[in-house]
Amino acid sequence: MEADTVREFVGDIGEEADRLTRISEKLLTLTRLDSAPAPSPEPVDIKQVAEKVCHMLKPLSDAVNVTVERRLEEGCIVPANADDIYQVAFNLIENAIKYNLPGGSVIVTLTRTETVAELRVEDTGVGIPEEDMPRIFDRFYRVDKARSRAAGGTGLGLSIVRDTVRQHGGVVSACQRSPDGTCFTVVLPLWEGEKGGRAL
Ligand SMILES: Nc1ncnc2c1ncn2[C@@H]1O[C@H](COP(=O)(O)OP(=O)(O)OP(=O)(O)O)[C@@H](O)[C@H]1O
Ligand SMILES: [Mg+2]
Repeated sequence: MEADTVREFVGDIGEEADRLTRISEKLLTLTRLDSAPAPSPEPVDIKQVAEKVCHMLKPLSDAVNVTVERRLEEGCIVPANADDIYQVAFNLIENAIKYNLPGGSVIVTLTRTETVAELRVEDTGVGIPEEDMPRIFDRFYRVDKARSRAAGGTGLGLSIVRDTVRQHGGVVSACQRSPDGTCFTVVLPLWEGEKGGRAL
Protein backbone atom coordinates (compact mmCIF):
# COMPACT_ATOMS: atom_id res chain seq x y z
CA MET A 1 0.00 0.00 0.00
CA GLU A 2 1.22 3.52 -0.83
CA ALA A 3 2.63 5.50 2.10
CA ASP A 4 0.17 8.34 1.38
CA THR A 5 -2.79 5.95 1.57
CA VAL A 6 -1.53 4.54 4.86
CA ARG A 7 -1.12 8.09 6.25
CA GLU A 8 -4.66 8.92 5.18
CA PHE A 9 -6.07 5.79 6.88
CA VAL A 10 -4.14 6.49 10.07
CA GLY A 11 -5.47 10.08 10.04
CA ASP A 12 -9.05 8.81 9.61
CA ILE A 13 -8.62 6.28 12.41
CA GLY A 14 -7.23 9.03 14.68
CA GLU A 15 -10.20 11.30 13.96
CA GLU A 16 -12.68 8.49 14.57
CA ALA A 17 -10.93 7.62 17.86
CA ASP A 18 -11.21 11.30 18.93
CA ARG A 19 -14.90 11.28 18.08
CA LEU A 20 -15.49 8.11 20.12
CA THR A 21 -13.63 9.67 23.04
CA ARG A 22 -15.84 12.75 22.83
CA ILE A 23 -18.98 10.58 22.75
CA SER A 24 -17.81 8.57 25.78
CA GLU A 25 -17.01 11.73 27.76
CA LYS A 26 -20.38 13.25 26.93
CA LEU A 27 -22.27 10.05 27.80
CA LEU A 28 -20.46 9.98 31.14
CA THR A 29 -21.49 13.58 31.77
CA LEU A 30 -25.12 12.71 30.97
CA THR A 31 -25.03 9.61 33.19
CA ARG A 32 -23.69 11.72 36.04
CA LEU A 33 -26.46 14.27 35.48
CA ASP A 34 -29.05 11.43 35.50
CA SER A 35 -27.86 9.72 38.63
CA ALA A 36 -25.93 12.03 40.91
CA PRO A 37 -27.57 14.79 42.92
CA ALA A 38 -26.38 18.32 42.12
CA PRO A 39 -23.25 19.20 44.12
CA SER A 40 -23.75 21.96 46.69
CA PRO A 41 -24.05 25.15 44.70
CA GLU A 42 -21.43 27.88 44.78
CA PRO A 43 -21.86 31.45 43.54
CA VAL A 44 -20.91 31.50 39.84
CA ASP A 45 -20.32 34.74 37.95
CA ILE A 46 -21.68 33.96 34.47
CA LYS A 47 -19.89 36.95 32.93
CA GLN A 48 -16.47 35.57 33.94
CA VAL A 49 -17.36 32.12 32.62
CA ALA A 50 -18.70 33.48 29.31
CA GLU A 51 -15.53 35.57 28.82
CA LYS A 52 -13.41 32.45 29.37
CA VAL A 53 -15.48 30.40 26.92
CA CYS A 54 -15.22 33.09 24.21
CA HIS A 55 -11.47 33.21 24.77
CA MET A 56 -11.19 29.42 24.45
CA LEU A 57 -13.27 29.41 21.28
CA LYS A 58 -11.38 32.29 19.61
CA PRO A 59 -9.18 29.96 17.51
CA LEU A 60 -12.31 28.19 16.21
CA SER A 61 -14.21 31.41 15.44
CA ASP A 62 -11.14 32.90 13.73
CA ALA A 63 -10.65 29.74 11.68
CA VAL A 64 -14.17 29.90 10.25
CA ASN A 65 -14.29 33.71 10.03
CA VAL A 66 -17.14 34.21 12.49
CA THR A 67 -17.14 37.19 14.86
CA VAL A 68 -18.27 36.75 18.44
CA GLU A 69 -19.68 39.88 20.07
CA ARG A 70 -20.17 40.05 23.84
CA ARG A 71 -22.71 42.19 25.69
CA LEU A 72 -22.28 41.01 29.25
CA GLU A 73 -23.89 42.65 32.26
CA GLU A 74 -22.22 42.51 35.69
CA GLY A 75 -23.84 40.95 38.73
CA CYS A 76 -25.22 37.82 37.06
CA ILE A 77 -24.29 35.50 39.92
CA VAL A 78 -26.12 32.18 40.10
CA PRO A 79 -26.03 29.23 42.53
CA ALA A 80 -24.41 26.51 40.44
CA ASN A 81 -21.05 24.98 39.66
CA ALA A 82 -18.52 26.88 37.53
CA ASP A 83 -17.63 23.82 35.42
CA ASP A 84 -21.30 23.17 34.68
CA ILE A 85 -21.96 26.76 33.59
CA TYR A 86 -18.79 26.58 31.48
CA GLN A 87 -20.15 23.45 29.73
CA VAL A 88 -23.48 25.15 29.05
CA ALA A 89 -21.94 28.33 27.63
CA PHE A 90 -19.30 26.35 25.71
CA ASN A 91 -21.80 24.04 23.99
CA LEU A 92 -24.10 26.89 22.97
CA ILE A 93 -21.37 29.23 21.73
CA GLU A 94 -19.50 26.39 19.99
CA ASN A 95 -22.71 25.45 18.15
CA ALA A 96 -23.35 29.08 17.21
CA ILE A 97 -19.88 29.19 15.62
CA LYS A 98 -19.94 25.68 14.09
CA TYR A 99 -23.35 26.02 12.47
CA ASN A 100 -22.61 29.48 11.12
CA LEU A 101 -21.44 30.74 7.73
CA PRO A 102 -18.16 32.44 6.83
CA GLY A 103 -18.45 36.15 7.66
CA GLY A 104 -21.32 35.42 10.06
CA SER A 105 -21.65 36.52 13.65
CA VAL A 106 -22.55 35.35 17.13
CA ILE A 107 -23.93 37.66 19.80
CA VAL A 108 -23.65 36.59 23.42
CA THR A 109 -25.86 38.67 25.71
CA LEU A 110 -26.03 38.41 29.49
CA THR A 111 -28.66 40.34 31.41
CA ARG A 112 -30.46 40.09 34.73
CA THR A 113 -33.73 40.99 36.32
CA GLU A 114 -34.49 41.18 40.05
CA THR A 115 -34.61 37.39 40.29
CA VAL A 116 -33.00 35.71 37.27
CA ALA A 117 -29.98 35.86 34.97
CA GLU A 118 -30.49 35.38 31.24
CA LEU A 119 -27.77 34.19 28.87
CA ARG A 120 -28.68 34.52 25.20
CA VAL A 121 -26.59 33.10 22.35
CA GLU A 122 -27.73 34.28 18.93
CA ASP A 123 -26.19 33.48 15.58
CA THR A 124 -26.62 34.37 11.93
CA GLY A 125 -25.97 30.78 10.89
CA VAL A 126 -27.71 28.04 8.96
CA GLY A 127 -30.71 28.00 11.31
CA ILE A 128 -32.87 25.11 12.54
CA PRO A 129 -36.06 24.20 10.64
CA GLU A 130 -39.22 24.68 12.72
CA GLU A 131 -40.06 20.94 12.50
CA ASP A 132 -36.72 19.99 14.09
CA MET A 133 -37.03 22.46 16.98
CA PRO A 134 -38.96 20.11 19.34
CA ARG A 135 -36.22 17.44 19.05
CA ILE A 136 -32.93 19.33 19.15
CA PHE A 137 -32.44 18.77 22.89
CA ASP A 138 -32.91 14.97 22.45
CA ARG A 139 -29.88 12.75 22.84
CA PHE A 140 -28.03 12.07 19.57
CA TYR A 141 -30.41 14.27 17.57
CA ARG A 142 -28.70 16.14 14.74
CA VAL A 143 -30.51 18.22 12.16
CA ASP A 144 -28.02 17.94 9.33
CA LYS A 145 -26.27 14.61 9.93
CA ALA A 146 -23.59 15.15 7.29
CA ARG A 147 -22.72 18.67 8.40
CA SER A 148 -22.77 17.78 12.07
CA ARG A 149 -20.58 14.73 11.56
CA ALA A 150 -18.15 16.72 9.46
CA ALA A 151 -18.03 19.25 12.30
CA GLY A 152 -17.21 16.36 14.68
CA GLY A 153 -20.61 16.54 16.37
CA THR A 154 -22.03 13.76 18.55
CA GLY A 155 -25.54 15.16 18.99
CA LEU A 156 -25.16 15.21 22.77
CA GLY A 157 -24.13 18.83 23.46
CA LEU A 158 -27.63 20.28 23.72
CA SER A 159 -28.85 17.36 25.90
CA ILE A 160 -26.05 18.17 28.32
CA VAL A 161 -27.05 21.84 28.22
CA ARG A 162 -30.70 21.07 28.97
CA ASP A 163 -30.01 18.57 31.78
CA THR A 164 -27.37 20.80 33.39
CA VAL A 165 -29.55 23.90 33.28
CA ARG A 166 -32.44 21.90 34.78
CA GLN A 167 -30.24 20.57 37.53
CA HIS A 168 -29.54 24.16 38.56
CA GLY A 169 -33.22 25.10 38.53
CA GLY A 170 -33.21 26.89 35.19
CA VAL A 171 -34.66 26.49 31.70
CA VAL A 172 -33.22 26.62 28.19
CA SER A 173 -35.16 27.33 25.02
CA ALA A 174 -34.42 27.78 21.34
CA CYS A 175 -36.09 29.83 18.64
CA GLN A 176 -35.54 30.86 15.07
CA ARG A 177 -33.97 34.24 14.64
CA SER A 178 -35.16 36.72 12.07
CA PRO A 179 -34.10 37.00 9.25
CA ASP A 180 -31.81 33.99 9.78
CA GLY A 181 -29.99 31.98 12.39
CA THR A 182 -30.92 30.68 15.80
CA CYS A 183 -31.25 32.04 19.32
CA PHE A 184 -30.79 29.99 22.50
CA THR A 185 -31.82 31.42 25.87
CA VAL A 186 -30.83 30.10 29.28
CA VAL A 187 -32.60 31.48 32.35
CA LEU A 188 -31.22 30.70 35.81
CA PRO A 189 -32.32 31.92 39.24
CA LEU A 190 -29.91 34.43 40.81
CA TRP A 191 -27.84 33.68 43.92
CA GLU A 192 -29.99 34.63 46.93
CA GLY A 193 -27.70 37.49 47.99
CA GLU A 194 -27.87 38.99 44.49
CA LYS A 195 -31.64 39.09 44.24
CA GLY A 196 -33.37 42.45 44.32
CA GLY A 197 -30.73 45.20 44.08
CA ARG A 198 -28.50 45.47 41.07
CA ALA A 199 -24.73 45.30 41.31
CA LEU A 200 -23.06 48.47 40.01
N1 LIG B 1 -26.82 27.31 16.63
C1 LIG B 1 -27.23 26.34 15.83
N2 LIG B 1 -27.57 26.60 14.53
C2 LIG B 1 -28.00 25.60 13.71
N3 LIG B 1 -28.12 24.31 14.09
C3 LIG B 1 -27.80 24.00 15.35
C4 LIG B 1 -27.34 24.99 16.29
N4 LIG B 1 -27.12 24.38 17.47
C5 LIG B 1 -27.42 23.08 17.28
N5 LIG B 1 -27.83 22.85 16.02
C6 LIG B 1 -28.29 21.56 15.45
O1 LIG B 1 -28.71 20.75 16.54
C7 LIG B 1 -27.97 19.52 16.53
C8 LIG B 1 -27.73 19.09 17.97
O2 LIG B 1 -26.76 19.95 18.58
P1 LIG B 1 -25.79 19.36 19.68
O3 LIG B 1 -24.94 20.46 20.18
O4 LIG B 1 -26.62 18.59 20.64
O5 LIG B 1 -24.93 18.28 18.89
P2 LIG B 1 -23.68 18.44 17.93
O6 LIG B 1 -23.23 19.86 17.86
O7 LIG B 1 -24.02 17.73 16.65
O8 LIG B 1 -22.59 17.57 18.66
P3 LIG B 1 -21.81 17.86 20.04
O9 LIG B 1 -22.24 16.76 20.94
O10 LIG B 1 -20.38 17.79 19.66
O11 LIG B 1 -22.24 19.21 20.56
C9 LIG B 1 -26.70 19.81 15.74
O12 LIG B 1 -26.22 18.65 15.13
C10 LIG B 1 -27.19 20.81 14.70
O13 LIG B 1 -27.79 20.12 13.62
MG1 LIG C 1 -22.84 20.90 19.75
